[in-house]
Amino acid sequence: MSDEENQWKDRSTPHWHLYQRQNLINAANGQLPPFNTDPTKLEREARAKLSQNGWFYASSNAGQSHTHHANRAAFARHRILPRTLVGTNRRETRTEIFGRSIPAPICFAPIGINEIYHAQAELAVARVAGRLGLPYCLSTAGSRPVESVGEANGEEGVRWFQLYMPHDDELTMSLLKRAWGAGFDVLILTTDTWQLGWRHDDIATGNYAFYHGRGASLGFTDPVFQRRLKEAGIDPETDPKAAAQKWIDTIWHGRSHNWEKVKWVLQQWKTLTNGKPFVIKGIQDARDAEMAVEVGCDGVVVSNHAGRQIDGAVASLDALEGVVAAVGGRTTVLFDSGVRSGSDVFKALALGAKAVLVGRLWVWGLSIQGEVGVEHVMRSLLAEFDLTMELAGCNRIEDIRRDRVRTVEEMDGKQKAKL
Ligand code: FNR
Repeated sequence: MSDEENQWKDRSTPHWHLYQRQNLINAANGQLPPFNTDPTKLEREARAKLSQNGWFYASSNAGQSHTHHANRAAFARHRILPRTLVGTNRRETRTEIFGRSIPAPICFAPIGINEIYHAQAELAVARVAGRLGLPYCLSTAGSRPVESVGEANGEEGVRWFQLYMPHDDELTMSLLKRAWGAGFDVLILTTDTWQLGWRHDDIATGNYAFYHGRGASLGFTDPVFQRRLKEAGIDPETDPKAAAQKWIDTIWHGRSHNWEKVKWVLQQWKTLTNGKPFVIKGIQDARDAEMAVEVGCDGVVVSNHAGRQIDGAVASLDALEGVVAAVGGRTTVLFDSGVRSGSDVFKALALGAKAVLVGRLWVWGLSIQGEVGVEHVMRSLLAEFDLTMELAGCNRIEDIRRDRVRTVEEMDGKQKAKL
């Protein structure tokens, strides 16, 4: 079905699709894959592995999960229209993002406090991203120091730092300097989470690890924040709860920023790094995308934070086309929220995203089996994406254009006749 001998040798990226064959051959020799990557089953297995708190934190959405369901429904409403007999034997999944060549348009979304999912936390995830050559984005709410994560990601790793910006400029600068020093060369400012959304399960169970003294080592290792603790008379050794609480209340402070502040931090980052990319994550409205371009951002991430912030909001996939129409020609548009499969990646690219970020998929893998789990999930996703390109008749990422998908609405009435 996938004869290794048939594979062209000069492909510049790994033959991701062969992961399918490898799994089947291994099984024939008595070794089944680590677990089933069907997203529903994957999620169920992660739930069985996690503590109640771990499960609630990873799975909680804003309110009644309407936005989360809208995210998934939007993918179901878009359907791939395959071409056949194109000749896809020499296809490539490689693309370029922010001046770096990457072997597939799939990135690791920033996810905070990984130590509640696995003892290896962010280090396990960064290692896998480094091995696969995919961009890894570390969250400010990460539970390992920036420097250790950079090292785990490796020399060749493509790494981005996601900033939750405090209202303490000296601390912000310290975080930026640490990230830059550890080889994170794209800054992603998240602007949809000054404050957490209302998540019923987390409230009902008091599920906020930082308030219990966990997950703040990125903050505790920061020289400016150490000074802030001292000034407040808090010793993280003897009172980790108060220290972790201060950290998280500093970065999730509940006080919004504005475009003037974005200009400031963008300027700081550009000066520090001699012009490295600056991106805003959390864009849904094309007018905000326009503003982002106007103030000089190098990219936007069309994201609704996996539906965790506002209940009853539009699906991120439905917001994508408007943003692409407004700024796609002028800036790099990335997408996330709701990606669960290789065909979802394909659909987001067809609607104009340059690449996608995935979050919960790898969180489930991490929860089930640490580094092995993350790698299995991501290799499976890459394989599924690669073979979706093959089966849909695409040789290059640029071939995945708008005419490769139809919405259900487009297929109704007059639109149907066009198919
Ligand atoms: C997130 N997300 C997130 N975003 C961010 O900018 N900083 C963060 O620390 C976190 N933390 C976080 C924790 C958990 C448990 C989840 C599920 C999400 C949002 C994340 O970066 C991304 O936008 C979404 O996860 C993408 O949607 P999917 O792929 O999870 O559906």
